Amino acid sequence: MLTQDDLKRNVAHAAVEYALSCLQPDSVLGVGTGSTVDFFIDAIAGHRERFRAAVSSSERSTERMRKLGIPVLDLNDVDDMPLYVDGADEIDHGMNMIKGGGGALTREKIVSSVARQFVCIVDETKVVDVLGRFPLPVEVIPMARNVVARKLRELGGEPRLREGFITDNGCEILDVSGLSITAPADMEAHINDIPGVVCCGLFALAGADLALVSTQQGVRRMVKGSATGEI
Ligand code: 5RP
Repeated sequence: MLTQDDLKRNVAHAAVEYALSCLQPDSVLGVGTGSTVDFFIDAIAGHRERFRAAVSSSERSTERMRKLGIPVLDLNDVDDMPLYVDGADEIDHGMNMIKGGGGALTREKIVSSVARQFVCIVDETKVVDVLGRFPLPVEVIPMARNVVARKLRELGGEPRLREGFITDNGCEILDVSGLSITAPADMEAHINDIPGVVCCGLFALAGADLALVSTQQGVRRMVKGSATGEI
């Protein structure tokens, strides 16, 4: 029986193989944040010469990559990125995701918006029929915490401040439980529109293009539009 760490390591290694098939020596790779991505960073560092540099979605990933000798560029200096690789807290069969368990959602959304392809790397426990079992992270400007929380309650959620946590952008996170997200893109647009919201952890307006899903039997691919979600 593989542990969750084994599953994460396996999917990270599959993502490295996939990334290497897309990258050229002058390519810039987008890199997400989290424990699954940590395994990805460790593994791709061994192939440093196969791409030019990375753009990072967090201070945490930047530090890890620099320690391993991967140059990290400022996003402002990059205008093309073939691939962005990141984990997720939940993904549904429409390739919509909840992200932000690690608190890096805003930079993740920004960096991934530049990439031509978003590759999501998860273990099978994170594939769900309907998003919302995992509390939805919403990054907020601190002075707007309470007003945003009231609006989120009107949507049927129960927001809770992530105590003692400040994002890389100097903001706070409300984790919203109790939502059953049957129309993820509509909900993302709605939450984005609340004044004081920096970023909503729903990635549905632009979801994943490919998911690599680690299971006890191996790593499966999931793409949008396939009837079962698997190919
Ligand atoms: C960080 C994220 C992560 O991708 C998500 O929380 C999954 O993390 P892990 O790989 O540690 O389970 O969105 O903001």
